[in-house]
Amino acid sequence: MLNIQTLYQEAIRFAGNRHLEGNQTVKGTRLPYVVHLSNVAMEIFVAAMHTDDFDLGFAVQVALLHDTLEDTSTTFDELKERFGEEVAVAVLALSKDERLPKEQQVPDSLARIRGLRKEVYAVKLADRITNLQPPPPDWNRETLIRYRDDSGLILEAMAEGNRYLAERLRSKIDEYEKYIL
Ligand code: NI
Repeated sequence: MLNIQTLYQEAIRFAGNRHLEGNQTVKGTRLPYVVHLSNVAMEIFVAAMHTDDFDLGFAVQVALLHDTLEDTSTTFDELKERFGEEVAVAVLALSKDERLPKEQQVPDSLARIRGLRKEVYAVKLADRITNLQPPPPDWNRETLIRYRDDSGLILEAMAEGNRYLAERLRSKIDEYEKYIL
């Protein structure tokens, strides 16, 4: 088994390159997308310090790769070959199925995550914690309310997976209220 530092390096280099291909940036900023990925991984490292029986190596790989299927040219088979089937299945569950109507995409992804290990729930919580930043200036009230409500849905469905991150997400959602006036 590779050590966690090596798993981290391999996953962040792979994902960093893939997201770079489309010049993808963190939403509403000029930052390269890898900043989002490393922030999600950082949340996972801190959560691991507060969580018993936590498979950090698995969780860190899923955290760093979590948007590769949704946002890049990466395929499921490629992830499976490089990082193993369990990581690939987790990333697939964290990806929206774009064939579904928009309003079903979040609940559908959450339902697929719920069949998997708690570390995958933790990545979903960490992803949303990381995304609850000051919103892009062009978001209107309706978009802000939808984002807050989606965040509540994620919290409700994923809370049992990681108490520490669930508490963090809960307070991030409370803080987000100040943007909705
Ligand atoms: Ni993400």
